[in-house]
This record gives sequence, C-alpha cells and structure tokens, in this order.
Amino acid sequence: MSDELRRQARRHLGQHFTRATAWRSPEMLVVVRSEGCYLWDDRGKRYLDGLAGLFCVNMGHGRADIADAAARQLKQLSFATNWSAAHPPSVEAASLIAELAPADLGVVFFVNSGSEATESAIKFAREYHLSQGRPERCKIFSRHMAYHGTTLGALSATGIPQFRSAFLPLLPWFRQVPNTLGWENEGDVPTSALSCVTAIEEAILEEGPETVAMLIAEPVQNVGGVMVPPNGYWQELRRLCDEYGILLCADEVICGFGRLGHWFGSQRNGVVPDIITFAKGVTSAYAPLGGMIVREPLIDALLDSSVGMFTHGVTWGGHPMSTAVAVANITAMRDEHVLDHVLALAPSFRAGLDDLAERHQIVKEVRGDGFFYGVELMAGRDAGRHLSAEEKATLCRDVLPRLLQQSGLMTRADDRGPAMLMLSPPLVADREVIGELLGMVDEVLTGAESWLASWT
Ligand SMILES: Cc1ncc(COP(=O)(O)O)c(C=O)c1O
Repeated sequence: MSDELRRQARRHLGQHFTRATAWRSPEMLVVVRSEGCYLWDDRGKRYLDGLAGLFCVNMGHGRADIADAAARQLKQLSFATNWSAAHPPSVEAASLIAELAPADLGVVFFVNSGSEATESAIKFAREYHLSQGRPERCKIFSRHMAYHGTTLGALSATGIPQFRSAFLPLLPWFRQVPNTLGWENEGDVPTSALSCVTAIEEAILEEGPETVAMLIAEPVQNVGGVMVPPNGYWQELRRLCDEYGILLCADEVICGFGRLGHWFGSQRNGVVPDIITFAKGVTSAYAPLGGMIVREPLIDALLDSSVGMFTHGVTWGGHPMSTAVAVANITAMRDEHVLDHVLALAPSFRAGLDDLAERHQIVKEVRGDGFFYGVELMAGRDAGRHLSAEEKATLCRDVLPRLLQQSGLMTRADDRGPAMLMLSPPLVADREVIGELLGMVDEVLTGAESWLASWT
C-alpha cells in the first residue's frame, strides 16, 4: 500500500521546490498522522516537528477544538464572500486580529496565503498613492535575500537570486536594498549610521523619493540567515518612510501570531507599520488563510477619494471555514497564554542552542528570538574554515536531511544564503519537547562533523 502510494505520488503529485532526486526517490516521506509536536510517517516512525510544518503549526497538531470549529462552520455556512458582503466568522476574525494589532492597524483584508498577502500589500500601496494623486509612486523596495512569496508580484519583491533567475525579467519597479546581516561588524556606530540603514536612504534618493510606494521587510528576516535587527533599526525604517512619504509594510507571515513571543513582530520591534501582512500562524495551518492589516486612515483616504475602492479580491478571501478556524486558533492562543509561554521558555531554548554552539566546531553562530532560530554552519569555527560551495551543497542537500531523518527531527537545512539549520517548533512545545529537540540537534551536529572530517 505504502509503496503504491509512493509510486502514485512520484507520478501524479506535483512537488513544490523539490529537486528531481527527491521527487523521484522511492523513499519519499509520506506523513500520515500528527499530534501535538509530533508527526508519524506511514511506516510508524515518529518525528518531532522542529519547523512547525513550515513555520505555521503554532498551536501544535491535532487539536479537536480547532477541527470542531471548522466542522461546525461548514455545517452552518459553507461559503459566502466578502465581496460587498460579510459573514460572521470573517467579521469575528477581522475584529479579533484588529484588536491585537498595533495602534490604528484596524482593517483586515483576507486572502489565502502569504504570497497573496504580499500581492495585496503591493497593490494596496500603489492604489492608495494613486488615490492621493501620486500615480508615479509605484516602486517597491524589499531587502536582499528576503522571501515574500512566489507569485510574480511577490517574487519581484523576493530577493533570493536562485528563485528569481528563471523568471527574469520580473516586474520592473522593484528594487532590493541591503538587509541587516553582519551589522554587528560595523563597530560602535549609531543605528542611523549603519550601512543597512544609510544604503536604503541612498537607494530612495537615487530612485527619486516621489517614485517609491512601499518598503516591505520582515521583523526578523528568515532567509539569508535569521536576521535579528539591531535595536532602533525599525525606528530608522519608520523615520525614512515618514520622511519620504513611503508606506512601511511588515511581512509578518512568519513573525506574526506568536513566533517571537508577541502577537506581531512589530510589537517586539516597537514600531507601527502602515501595513502588516500575515498567513501561516493565523490558523496554525488548520486551514489556508492569509491577509493584510492596514491602518484605518489609509483605508479611509482611499475610500473617500475618487478611486473609491480597493480594486483587488479573490474568491476564497475570508472563507468561512478558514476564518472560523482563525478565531478558534487565536482564541486558544490567547486563553492558553501561549505568548507568555514562548517568552518564558525562549531564554532556555536559546541557552541550549548556545551550549550546542560552544560544543560543536561546525556551528558558526546561532541567531534568532522567541521560538525562531537558525544555526549557521561552517567547516571549523576555531580554524576559521568556511564551507566550500560543494561542501555546503552536499551538507545541506544530502547529509543533513539524512541525519535529520535518522534522528527523527523534522526540519530543514537551508542553503539559499549561509548554510543554516532551521529551528522553529510549535509554540506549545514545553521544556521536555525543547530538551528532546536540543538532543536531536546535538546528534545531527555530531553526525555532520564526522561527515566533514571524513570528507576533508
Ligand atoms: C516572510 C514570508 N512571506 C511570504 C511568504 C509566502 O507565503 P505562502 O507560502 O503562504 O505563499 C512566506 C512563506 O514562507 C514567508 O516566509
């Protein structure tokens, strides 16, 4: 049965971002069950979910309350739109999210994914400026190596060369600016003088500030090395956007809904953006849902203008089941004090990772916050030896996946920027689960070091 399923999967199931060897592998992973922080494959092997699915199963797997909310809603009202109309679960979800969002971010526009959320923000920024008599403000700034999604608008904002190159030319009015990686190496300078800030201002001036519509950035950028920004960095982004009339969008597809121990990463960074995009954790992946939250005065300005409408929408935006799931998920997250749990456990999670870093020469550095970490790898820390391109590719694409599978830790090695082992478990992981996860990482790092020793 399992082998037949694998055969059919290899033939009929389109795999996302999957190399031919993995797509055609007779050993393709087939996951059949999940509960709490664990998943089981069809052969009965248990895995600890070290990536919360794809940074999304925030409340853990297999919760009956969320599943029941979906079933109840489907029986009550299976579908109605948010096109010149409303229905109770979308209104309830929007109101709940607006209450949790910072300041006057009070209007929630639902779509189905993070990519669609990015598309929505790009289109909103352009149409907002158009409505205010500024049609020339159409350029979008994003940061090098940032992942904002895969649809062509979102991909134009995505700054990962490997994902962009097959689709060039992308949309013309996008520009990538430096991210914050390595800011610590610039010495004791004020944040406003760091090159990751000054380069953005230079790019704005070069393009002409009157042509720039929006800057989009993650509170903590995932791809390229889990970049925690320096203190005051987001305040600088806010200052630049205010000074030059640019909308500031925080892409909170990963950072939103508790990943950093706050409802939104923007609250961690202490800045009110104009737009927040979200997806993933809003439903803990019990149903597809994404969206953007916009400051109320901006919506009013658009609606009160001669444009009079946000010219954008999708059939399933705010689907009753998905928004009912969001309500159940967010309510559980709030009532079970999950954000407090993340803040309370994060220091020992971090300390455990730092301890592993000290004991393993293959670890260059650990970066992250809350329940969101990346372990950057190199060939030998004390020797200052970096991985060759071949070592990095083999380590991330063959060796680590095999070691992770053996140890029963489900997560990814990411080689799109520096070689990273990603760790982002469900937010409900307790001390015991985090301890088990750290033990597995220890085992995987030991295996990777042995492989490196035999390779060199
Ligand atoms: C920061 C960020 N933005 C946008 C997206 C795109 O989301 P989706 O895969 O739901 O389209 C992702 C996906 O991982 C993401 O991490």
